Amino acid sequence: MEVQQQVQLQKFNTLNLKSTAAYYVQISTQQALLDALDFAKQHQLNCLILSGGSNMLLPESIQALVIHINIRGIEKLEENENHVTVCVGAGENWHDFVLYTTQQQWYGLQNLALIPGRVGASPVQNIGAYGVEAGDFIETVQVYDREQSQFKTLTAAECHFAYRHSIFKDNPNRFVIVSVTFKLLKVADLKLGYGDLRTAVGDEQTAENLQRQVIAIRQSKLPDPSVFPNAGSFFKNPVINESHYQQLAQQFPKLPHYPQPNAQVKIAAGWLIDQAGWKGQRLGVVGMFEKQALVLVNYADATLNEVQQTYQAVQHAVQQKFNITLEPEPVLFNGLGLIQPHVSN
Ligand code: EPU
Repeated sequence: MEVQQQVQLQKFNTLNLKSTAAYYVQISTQQALLDALDFAKQHQLNCLILSGGSNMLLPESIQALVIHINIRGIEKLEENENHVTVCVGAGENWHDFVLYTTQQQWYGLQNLALIPGRVGASPVQNIGAYGVEAGDFIETVQVYDREQSQFKTLTAAECHFAYRHSIFKDNPNRFVIVSVTFKLLKVADLKLGYGDLRTAVGDEQTAENLQRQVIAIRQSKLPDPSVFPNAGSFFKNPVINESHYQQLAQQFPKLPHYPQPNAQVKIAAGWLIDQAGWKGQRLGVVGMFEKQALVLVNYADATLNEVQQTYQAVQHAVQQKFNITLEPEPVLFNGLGLIQPHVSN
């Protein structure tokens, strides 16, 4: 284990925020993780767990130990004619893993192609796209529980998966995910219900073609982080109650909405931001992408402060027009390396 000092994290977070870690270590084994946690304890440092950095807002300076999880490996645990169970190291690249499953003719994750980030982050916000969520195919998550000082396996039920939510969101700073076990299908069951996916897939109804179409749709409207640094959808799609929705629908009949259980309605945040005039707009060097208003882009070396000014201005505009508070998706860290709640404007 080699702990480095004063390490620049700009290339390790997809928003490209400049952020210097006082201490930084890459770990590729469970033992190295324990050693890193020990080092932090000895030096009285907090630990910030870094994965693919695709869903994080980092401050300019972090007085903590940043532990970059690089545990690799894909291991087949069980296989029968219907299912295959695979355990995947948290440090594996998500998209490469999805492509690998398709090559192996293991099915389920094709709708989740091209999502940036690493496998270990997939359960945290229960990544989802085109009608599928990672939690639908996760069997267990292997973690180090920092509260109980032991490695544990959490079942999917124990992970409390919901829309962009899990136990890991409820207990920030507690669990370090070391690997994720997926139960995938041997016979494809294509999920084509979202938007115009069915039309895009057309007559060639195979998992390979589904994956190709998902990639094409994403490439057509989502910015490539290596060209336009971003963190994917910047806000969650808000869920409001039925009476609020009815009130809005009278004024805005085109409001895209998705009925939820318990008389709740999910609203498309991208549409709200678009209608509030923010699509393709910038404040300084930070703006909302021209082809998908839900994605915030760092156009030139922005600091966290500049990102916050832009997203708070967007929140304000949406609040004024629709009386809806948008909640940011990326996790915000303070200068001591701890997760902290967002303050809205
Ligand atoms: N819309 C607009 N203007 C925009 C963007 C969207 O009017 O600028 C409208 C669209 O026309 C559509 C609706 O809003 O009627 C929904 O748009 P879209 O299908 O693009 O999906 P989304 O709700 O904006 C969600 C996820 C994405 C995921 C897509 C596809 C969230 C917060 N975002 O976006 O996830 O890829 O659905 O399933 O749930 C991510 O989390 O990083 C991400 C990209």
